[in-house]
Amino acid sequence: MPTKALVLAGGSGTRLRPITHTSAKQLVPLANRPILFYCLDAIAAVGIRDVGIIVGETAPMIKDAVGDGGEFGLDVTYIHQEAPLGLGHCVLIARDYLASDPFIMYLGDNFLVDSLSSFVEEFDTTRPSAQILLKEVEDPRQFGVAIIRDGEVVGLVEKPPDPPSNLALIGVYMFDVAIHEAVRAIRPSARGELEITDAIQWLIEHDHVVRSHVIEGDWIDTGKRQDILAANRIVLDLLRRDLKGTMDPESRVVGRVVVEPGAKLVRSEVRGPAIVGTGTQLIDSFVGPFTSIAGNCRLEDCEIDHSIVLEGSRVTGVKRIADSLIGREATIEPSTDQPRAYRFLVGDHSEIHLP
Ligand code: G1P
Repeated sequence: MPTKALVLAGGSGTRLRPITHTSAKQLVPLANRPILFYCLDAIAAVGIRDVGIIVGETAPMIKDAVGDGGEFGLDVTYIHQEAPLGLGHCVLIARDYLASDPFIMYLGDNFLVDSLSSFVEEFDTTRPSAQILLKEVEDPRQFGVAIIRDGEVVGLVEKPPDPPSNLALIGVYMFDVAIHEAVRAIRPSARGELEITDAIQWLIEHDHVVRSHVIEGDWIDTGKRQDILAANRIVLDLLRRDLKGTMDPESRVVGRVVVEPGAKLVRSEVRGPAIVGTGTQLIDSFVGPFTSIAGNCRLEDCEIDHSIVLEGSRVTGVKRIADSLIGREATIEPSTDQPRAYRFLVGDHSEIHLP
């Protein structure tokens, strides 16, 4: 049984700018809970207590959100990575923490629906040096890709332009002590990182047993807006209806909707699956399916669906918003100034798509 987990919560999240200019990518919420929390829940659910979390420049935010891990039933140790030098580098700097124990490594921006239990059991009974999780994907070029022959993993390649299979490496791995020798032996890749994919390839080439497990359930590497929205849809779909806030008689809530305590609906409709956070007010608005509105927002005279709105934002008079990720304390409102025009104060790397 692996007794430890190594969770990777460093990295800069360039594909999710501008959200990641001010926040860690692992803290973007799905149904109003940071992605990272689902990973910590999954680790706790298989009975692991000791978790090392690799943190980088967003360390203060990660520490603030996770604390000592007690809330998850975990005992968390933070390990600082001075620069994003790769997943293999994370294992390298966690050597003292991990000692010689077998461990599970989990990328904090990966989202998995399936429980880890069958994966952990398989590792326990077969005891390979590494066990990888794979998922069939349409376009594997942005992932590590596995070559399987007669059920055996015979090779791995990181982000191949011409993929040898459509089996992508998911960011959840299990290792025994041999991985430490592997990460010491490999050299940085073309992107200047110590790739965990190369370390596992090294294990294969040095006659260590590497097993694979193809998962059926959903997996999302939440790197980009569309991926975050897709993961949000999956989590919202698992919600149970729970109405704690207040609503006037002219408001309506349909289906699997969570209205958190202190949220207020005035002449508004929420159609599930959806969640409305604490302290948020919906006035003359429609919040459609697959939408998460964080706490302390105010939506007035607007319609929104398939979207995520983060803490403290205000949206007024927009019909309609779809497929959007709106950051913290953003304001979208009509302007009465002349001349009539769009007026923007938009952060670096923002995207605006007009109809
Ligand atoms: C990393 C791994 C890659 C894996 C992916 C899963 O990629 O290098 O093999 O398929 O995570 O999310 P990165 O996120 O560093 O581009």
